[in-house]
Formats: sequence, C-alpha cells, structure tokens
Amino acid sequence: MAKVELTGFTCGYDDRGRGTPVVWIHGFPFHRGMWAPQVAALADAGRMIALDLRGFGESSRSAGPYTMDRFADDVAALLDALTIETAVLAGLSMGGYVAFAFCRRHPKRVRGLLLADTRAEPDAPEARAGRREMAERVNRAGSAGLAEEMLPRLLSEETQRTRPDVVERAREMIESAEPESVAFALTGMAERLDASDLLPEIRVPTWIVVGEHDAITPPETARLMGMTIPGARVVVLPGAGHLSNLESPDAFNAAARDLIGRVA
Ligand code: MLT
Repeated sequence: MAKVELTGFTCGYDDRGRGTPVVWIHGFPFHRGMWAPQVAALADAGRMIALDLRGFGESSRSAGPYTMDRFADDVAALLDALTIETAVLAGLSMGGYVAFAFCRRHPKRVRGLLLADTRAEPDAPEARAGRREMAERVNRAGSAGLAEEMLPRLLSEETQRTRPDVVERAREMIESAEPESVAFALTGMAERLDASDLLPEIRVPTWIVVGEHDAITPPETARLMGMTIPGARVVVLPGAGHLSNLESPDAFNAAARDLIGRVA
C-alpha cells in the first residue's frame, strides 16, 4: 500500500503491474480491499491501481459531503500524482457513479470503462429520502447494524448460502467504515447528477458487467445501458449478486482482461 497527499486528504492506494493503467473505484461503503481478487489476478495484464476514496479504507477523512464530482476529481488528482495521463476506469456501483462523474469532468483522460453493477440514472425521490434517513441514523447511532441491513441485498442467495468467506469479507469492510464517511457518501450519492445524457457520447471501449441476481442494479438496467453506449459489451455473471467481482471473481476477471486487451 502506498500513500500520497492529494487536495484535502491523504490517499491510500495499491499500484501493481505495468502497462495500461486501470483505476479500480470501490463501491459503498467499501474500500480498495474489495478489488483484491482483481489486482492480484490482473497485474500481468496492465497497471492495476486501486484507491481508497476519501474517508474510506486507509484514506483520511475530510469535511463532507463526498460528492461524486469530488471523488472523481480525487481520482484525477491521483492520476496526476502518478503522472498518468489516461486510464481505464473500473467502478462498481458507487464506483460507477464516480466513473460517470469522471467522464463528465475529465473526458479526455478515459481510455476505457468497466461499469460493474451500476446505473447512470440518479436516485428517485424515495431512494434519496432513504439515503438521508440512513445518513441521519448513522450519524446518530453509528454504523452498527448496517452490515445486517445491507448484506442480503448486496449478495445473491447462493453466495450467502455457499460462500461464508465472501459474506465475512463484505461484512468486515462495511463494519470498518467510519460512520461520518458513510453519511457523507450517502449525501453525495443522493445529490448525484443524472449521467444518462453521457451514455450515447461515450467513445471508448466499454464493458458492462452485472451479477445475474443483482437486486440493486439488475441485469435489465445493465442491458438498457449497454444499448445506449455505442459498442458496449454486456456481461451477465451467473449466480452473482451486486458484489459481482467478489462473488464471481474468475468470470469478472475474464471480462476485465478482455477489456484491457481491447484497450491495449
Ligand atoms: C454500492 O454498492 O456502491 C451501493 O449499492 C451504491 C448505491 O447505494 O447506490
């Protein structure tokens, strides 16, 4: 793990391999550790950079809220610090929201996109209200209980039944998240812009990966996104839920390797 000072916080990240840079952007409320199966398996295919977004993992906190634009600018600042001009962006769920914000703010720096278990649309009003309610609760009572609440929707039934290692890994990450950062990211997600208008403008190789049983951003959402992004490829991973990279790492990595090969 390396650390670098970026604007307003210290960023923790892993940097392995050489060649085409791929920046892995984690989901909510996780950290770069969720990409361990990708960074380990794909370091022979390119330069794997997995960062902790501000406030998560080993990155320090700052004043909030943590908007998707702010996270996207942090990713750009990390690329600057590593003197990397362009990269493939790989984001899962909230990481995908950050990738869309990056595409809007730094379009020339995107070489390819891996959009995993994510959506371009903003929250509906009820979802926004739910996030505000959760942010208030976490601010008041901490993040105890968050894992129990989230896990059934994050992992497929099959994973919950047969992969205790994956369940535990996800639980540990959720439980280690700082309540204040959880609340800041919830507010940031609630405020995020609609990225639908960007989709037809995307001109870089794009792979959309989704778990067959993703209950949060289902395959139908992925297919519709795939129809709107020119030339996008949609890969549905059998048996996986929302955390498809952890639930089905081999198939996920095969898709990522294809994309990296295409970009290179
Ligand atoms: C995530 O996995 O990042 C979250 O499910 C994103 C969200 O709550 O929209």
